[in-house]
Amino acid sequence: MTVFVTTFLVALVYLSDIQVAAFIKSNDFGIENHLGSRTPYRFKYNKNDSPVIYENCRDHKIWMVIRHGTRLPGVKDIMKAQNLTKIKQEILLQHSNGKGQLSMKQLKQMEDWYNDIPLERDKFLTLEGQNEMIQLAERMQRRFPHAMKQSYDNKTILFRYTATQRAQQSARYFATGLFGEKDVRRIVFPPAHKIDKVLRFYKYCDKWQKQVKKNPETYKEYNLFGISREMNETLEYVSKRLGLTNVLTLEMVNTIYKLCGYETAWHKRHISVWCNAFDDKSIKVLEYYHDLRSYWLDGYANELTYRQGCVSMRHMFNSLTKENRPRATFLFTHSGTLVKILAHLGLYKPEAPLTGSKMVNDRQWRTSDIDSFAANLAFVLFKCKGGDRVLTLHQEKIVRLPMCSEDLCPLKKLTNYFQDSIHNCNFNEICGTVEGKDEATQVTKSKLNLTLRVNEEL
Ligand SMILES: *[C@@H]1O[C@H](CO)[C@@H](O)[C@H](O)[C@H]1NC(C)=O
Ligand SMILES: *[C@@H]1O[C@H](CO)[C@@H](O)[C@H](O)[C@H]1NC(C)=O
Ligand SMILES: *[C@@H]1O[C@H](CO)[C@@H](O)[C@H](O)[C@H]1NC(C)=O
Ligand SMILES: *[C@@H]1O[C@H](CO)[C@@H](O)[C@H](O)[C@H]1NC(C)=O
Repeated sequence: MTVFVTTFLVALVYLSDIQVAAFIKSNDFGIENHLGSRTPYRFKYNKNDSPVIYENCRDHKIWMVIRHGTRLPGVKDIMKAQNLTKIKQEILLQHSNGKGQLSMKQLKQMEDWYNDIPLERDKFLTLEGQNEMIQLAERMQRRFPHAMKQSYDNKTILFRYTATQRAQQSARYFATGLFGEKDVRRIVFPPAHKIDKVLRFYKYCDKWQKQVKKNPETYKEYNLFGISREMNETLEYVSKRLGLTNVLTLEMVNTIYKLCGYETAWHKRHISVWCNAFDDKSIKVLEYYHDLRSYWLDGYANELTYRQGCVSMRHMFNSLTKENRPRATFLFTHSGTLVKILAHLGLYKPEAPLTGSKMVNDRQWRTSDIDSFAANLAFVLFKCKGGDRVLTLHQEKIVRLPMCSEDLCPLKKLTNYFQDSIHNCNFNEICGTVEGKDEATQVTKSKLNLTLRVNEEL
């Protein structure tokens, strides 16, 4: 079937682009569904924003963790993208020699392509990212009108963000969606914490940094897939499709894949010219390559990775259950936080670990779906006749947590299941750290049990 579809698609490239576009739209192969963590949110959000109503219940409080919206690439990727200018010239040249498989229209698009991202704006939130936040806020407010009021009150709403431009600006635009451009100017946003363990626990978790992030074992399957036959064939295919005489390196094809994602994310109703380097089969190979990294680095591969997420989960439970906490809490952070929390909750767990030796096609762990730009997770406390309940939404869609048999889960059931996350979340113990101390001291300190207090304020 795949062979047929691929052949069919390649054949179609020689027909008009309109037909190709129509084909892509009517097929499950939409390139926009395979862009990994660079997937723009406009392809993922829940379009139904009518109020979420349960009989004898009323939405009361909300706690949300939100990945910043679509952003520019980091310095390294901006520099790599600069190298694509040379490849662009080569593609045009080879096509004029009759090589390559791009259509006239695609070549024209390629001709017009240029890269002018200023290095000093690396990772900045883009216009599309601003829109993602405004619209996300508007939809959530329509769904949960009691938890998310129309007027701003600094006692009942909390915005918190990491000390980064993209997270801070995401908060600002989200607030704009809630209260309008005029009122947002009156909001005094609290300064970002320099070290914020609720928002970015893994950054300060020494043990995780050492045992997972900087451990070569973490990248074993990812690297294995990077030199697999499947990947090598993909590099050859992409190079041939672009008309190149030399086979592109994995690094270059990876850069093309990333830019395909970024540029598609930045502009509404636009697919990046670099996406033309791929067909259905080859883009899925690149997508899997990135999912492997995500799974082993941020997902289920190591218990420590998601266990440390208790810091955020405890914050969520405290916010929803303690009366003195704000009615609405919005945390603006990064992919690394959101994805680890998903694993803490037991969501999207693949049946078996993802491996580099064989592509797992029907995997639940798919960053294109779960970790797009502006990816978000919401917990909404409902006051019900029979007691408090919690509704969980991921990408604005209601999700049923694995430990619960209902969408609207009794709060007691959750606090029971997550009692360890709430009551035994000793960050320094889990992470083998004491702030500002070397390791030898840390061990002694944790033995002396002096470390609990610090976390209790989080
Ligand atoms: C760009 O290409 C040159 C050679 O063509 C290479 O030496 C350099 O490392 C590349 N830069 C990046 C950032 O990939
Ligand atoms: C809320 O706003 C009032 C009036 O502007 C101010 O006095 C108060 O300190 C603010 N509270 C917080 C928690 O920011
Ligand atoms: C794929 O290419 C790499 C680099 O050229 C090579 O080291 C590797 O052995 C190749 N893999 C297979 C399965 O042939
Ligand atoms: C550490 O102290 C807390 C009270 O502050 C206590 O509940 C806990 O059991 C102690 N843990 C150990 C390992 O002694």
